[in-house]
Amino acid sequence: MSNTLKIQSTHSKNARRFSAITQKFEETFGTPPTFIASAPGRVNLIGEHTDYNDGYVFPVAIDKYLNIAARRRSDPRVVLHALDVNESAEVCLDRLPSMPRQAPAWSRYLIGVASLLQASGRKIAGMDAIITGDVPIGAGLSSSAALSVAATLAFLAAGADTEVPISENDKTELAALCQRVEHEFVGVKCGIMDQTILLLGQENCALFLDCRSLEYEHVPLNLADYAIAICNTKVKRELAASAYNKRRAECERGVETLRRRLPGITSLRDIGLTDFKKYEEELPTLTQKRCRYVIEENARVVEAASILKARSQRADESLMELGHLMNASHNGLRDHYQVSCTELNLLTDIARDITGVMGSRMTGAGFGGCTVSIVHRDALETFQRRITTAYHEQTGLAPEIYRCHVSDGAHVYWI
Ligand code: GLA
Repeated sequence: MSNTLKIQSTHSKNARRFSAITQKFEETFGTPPTFIASAPGRVNLIGEHTDYNDGYVFPVAIDKYLNIAARRRSDPRVVLHALDVNESAEVCLDRLPSMPRQAPAWSRYLIGVASLLQASGRKIAGMDAIITGDVPIGAGLSSSAALSVAATLAFLAAGADTEVPISENDKTELAALCQRVEHEFVGVKCGIMDQTILLLGQENCALFLDCRSLEYEHVPLNLADYAIAICNTKVKRELAASAYNKRRAECERGVETLRRRLPGITSLRDIGLTDFKKYEEELPTLTQKRCRYVIEENARVVEAASILKARSQRADESLMELGHLMNASHNGLRDHYQVSCTELNLLTDIARDITGVMGSRMTGAGFGGCTVSIVHRDALETFQRRITTAYHEQTGLAPEIYRCHVSDGAHVYWI
């Protein structure tokens, strides 16, 4: 009896939280949805461009979500409406992975997810679906991973047509499947960070992830009087995909050359700074800079995680050390890895000048997108005002600033 009541109260809470998307679904399809698959965005605190080098990352899931409201269909059709871009697409599960002519770009993610789920032998089903959310698109907060992760959960929910728990192991497998969607259907040779944090995120914890072994640890974040603030440059990330793939190839070339001296290595993860310094002169200048950044960044992530895990320090002291590491990470991304841009550098410069800011860096792939800063609560208003004014004065752009809460990973809510 008490169990039934609990389920009912969760369901009515979900119904309230998702009332707008539910209403839109009813207007479009004439019946209510049966579930909402919801995936958060993410912000990476430190460990950028290390995931595809088999290294370490330290992201958190944030309280911005991509939601897919859906209802299983009795035929293999998938009818999709993306509210925020006002576009529709229709796919037939019997004809995958063929892409309908003039399919909108976002539908590739759903087609990719459905094709790979089907190929892996998982049960999926046709559905009517509405897609909408508040993860800013193309702003370095993993809007595309949120789409593929939410789509994965939606297809699985439609296939089962009932609540099915997904184990942690299964989540790791699904993250790899979503990564393959980027590689095989979108053409971005991304790492595994985004999909993993989106599936495994936990409220008030950062995920210390070893991208080689996929072992992870949820590290509680004691932010005390501090907050995580995200600033969106509002700069479109033009050519980001090709520059991203190019960086990855540069790192791989570096490993090939260094392997002549260090035969046991298979990725930059295997090289310590001391060894690197012995042989770095043998690399072309650019490759040298790229590799140096990755090797140093891996060390910074390990240090950041161990600082936050140690309980012997006061929160403000730990956050100050984390802030220093974040600043050093940004400087490396700007000067050595060269994936920052004027606007990101400007935002971090303005932020670092404000009393109460522990550290500030670009986050995500770069070339535009967002910065992440650790800011004292009392300084948040000044932060908002100074960033908005100074950034606008120098670029003519209005940045968006979000205070984010560290949230749980993706979930299916039954209505
Ligand atoms: C993008 C990719 C990730 C990661 C970051 C940079 O978000 O999807 O795999 O490489 O860039 O750290």
